[in-house]
Amino acid sequence: MEFSNSKKTILSGVQPSGNLTIGNYLGAIRNWETLQNEKYEEYNSLYCVVDMHAITVRQTPAELRRRTMETVAIYLAAGIDPAKSLIFVQSHVPAHAQLSWVLNCYTMFGELSRMTQFKDKSAKNAQNINAGLFTYPALMAADILLYQADLVPVGIDQKQHLELTRDIAERFNQVYGNTFVVPECYMPKTGAKICSLADPTKKMSKSDENPNACVLMLDSKDDIIRKFKRAVTDSDTSVRYADGKDGINNLMTIYSCFTGKTFEDIEKEFEGKGYGDFKMAVGEACADGLAPLQAEFKRLMADKVYLENLMRENADQASYIARKTLSKVYRKIGFLAKP
Ligand code: TYM
Repeated sequence: MEFSNSKKTILSGVQPSGNLTIGNYLGAIRNWETLQNEKYEEYNSLYCVVDMHAITVRQTPAELRRRTMETVAIYLAAGIDPAKSLIFVQSHVPAHAQLSWVLNCYTMFGELSRMTQFKDKSAKNAQNINAGLFTYPALMAADILLYQADLVPVGIDQKQHLELTRDIAERFNQVYGNTFVVPECYMPKTGAKICSLADPTKKMSKSDENPNACVLMLDSKDDIIRKFKRAVTDSDTSVRYADGKDGINNLMTIYSCFTGKTFEDIEKEFEGKGYGDFKMAVGEACADGLAPLQAEFKRLMADKVYLENLMRENADQASYIARKTLSKVYRKIGFLAKP
């Protein structure tokens, strides 16, 4: 892709820490494709596979490698077009780690302690509450600020990290003069929080141990339908969006995302029908919506040379863009330039 200094910039990323779910797809990746196409004239688009974030939780090395490559293929299969967007792997661009160290020194202990993701993840990984898990938001800030991103499309769970990124950028700018663009959060109207099918009060998460809680982007049609059939709902019988109907609200959201229908349309469509029919329809819509992506994913994974070439070239381009911000930061904070 051609990076233009006169355009604004969009940046986002997904951790290759598990198999991606329809939460990742509907909350993030699908909107990247829309933004890339609809805002092409206005924005550069950069999409990163954030493997450095993934190691804040213990990973099996071979699996992390496989998932990193698969995530690149998923971005492409979801329609992120290398002619329009820069797809790259975080650890291939050393400036992320370099800027993250600097930003760590401008991020407060108290701020990091308030991050709900840190609290959740440290409760889940009580034997491994490492410093990386704690300072994770400073690395995320580095990902964004390195490229002077204006817009960051994410799901609702990342909003708090993005607010912290803005605070870090503003703090730095105040001390050293304008250095970073202060980014805005972009969230989809529908799909910013897809919930677990087993416990619809919780978000759907790729690290959930219950395989029925999440629908994976690469699940087979049979698995998708089976999971939706088992989805937890309520003792009411009518398909309508209402307080206290978390399970149905979640299924309506997913159905709406895949079909483009409004909640009103959906209520009319299923008037007088039971939850069984509705769940089946959601399963079908989801499986059909993912089918083209899955076919393209399979094709891409059979062409490793293409994926490797793309990763190599894009890492070089991302490094070039990132180094400009990093040098500016190094100069401002007083690091002596290498003679
Ligand atoms: P991660 O890998 O947990 O999730 C990737 C993206 O998917 C969204 N998402 C969801 N959206 C709706 N419903 C859900 N159930 C759901 N689950 C996940 C997330 O909001 C996210 O947009 N810290 C980030 C990764 C990151 C990043 C960045 C994002 C690192 N650096 C820079 C943007 C910009 C994370 O853990 O996302």
